[in-house]
Amino acid sequence: MEGRVALITGAAGGIGRASVLAFAEAGARVVVADIDLTGAEETAHLAAQMGEAIALRVDVTRADEVAALVERAITTFGRLDYAHNNAGVAYPSLAAMTPTADQDESLFDHILAVNLKGVWLGMKYEILRMVAQGGGAIVNTSSILGLVGGKGMAAYVASKHGVAGLTKTAALEYARYGVRVNAVCPGVVQTRMVEPMLADPKIERGWLQSQAIRRTAEPGEIAAAALWLCSDAASFVTGHLLNVDGGQFAQ
Ligand SMILES: NC(=O)c1ccc[n+]([C@@H]2O[C@H](COP(=O)([O-])OP(=O)(O)OC[C@H]3O[C@@H](n4cnc5c(N)ncnc54)[C@H](O)[C@@H]3O)[C@@H](O)[C@H]2O)c1
Repeated sequence: MEGRVALITGAAGGIGRASVLAFAEAGARVVVADIDLTGAEETAHLAAQMGEAIALRVDVTRADEVAALVERAITTFGRLDYAHNNAGVAYPSLAAMTPTADQDESLFDHILAVNLKGVWLGMKYEILRMVAQGGGAIVNTSSILGLVGGKGMAAYVASKHGVAGLTKTAALEYARYGVRVNAVCPGVVQTRMVEPMLADPKIERGWLQSQAIRRTAEPGEIAAAALWLCSDAASFVTGHLLNVDGGQFAQ
């Protein structure tokens, strides 16, 4: 990926940070974006040991901020070849994970705004640039919960199914312009997001038993899939939802 440029959101930690490091190691210059600027700067610092990286603060729910982010990527590095739309939120506590009829409205709106609208806004501005440039590759972070239901997680599940739909639709629309659009669907990954759930032994046991490989994934194992989907090695792959789930759907 020498000479190419990647933009990654939700990159202050977890899967996004691992993705930044994977793209940097592959030779790309990287734009590290997150609502948490301090965390994004730490990630950019780590990536700078391998190549060029800048950290920018963005709220992916804000069209003006996402447009400005893509613009900054272009003014800084001159082009945009890859984007990983990965920023996301889940439930702040176990108490917030309620059956569908009891989900809190403002939390529902927030989860949909970050996880679904945020991905759409990212694609909107990235695609315009990639089409103008003659091609590019996008990977969105969906989830295994973008494929099946999950008790207590209606808003999250809806948002991740939405990401799957956006991914397939954009793939159909922009293939003719040389833009590929895919998604990764992770199983349980050891990040800040799942700490409140994994703290409950019952939930932890249930989640791990559903994966054939009975452990949580490392963020780098998801990043490796995202990197491959964007790379030229996946040049005939578009509209694909790639499960990286420890074999959850094999059983
Ligand atoms: N951890 C898992 O088990 C798991 C499983 C499937 C999918 N995912 C998805 O992976 C992605 C990354 O999550 P993670 O597990 O690395 O957790 P994480 O909490 O470490 O990362 C999410 C990042 O998104 C950022 N973010 C939140 N709201 C934002 C906003 N409005 N604008 C910009 N950035 C914002 C956060 O600051 C954080 O750095 C998410 O989309 C998540 O839904 C995670």
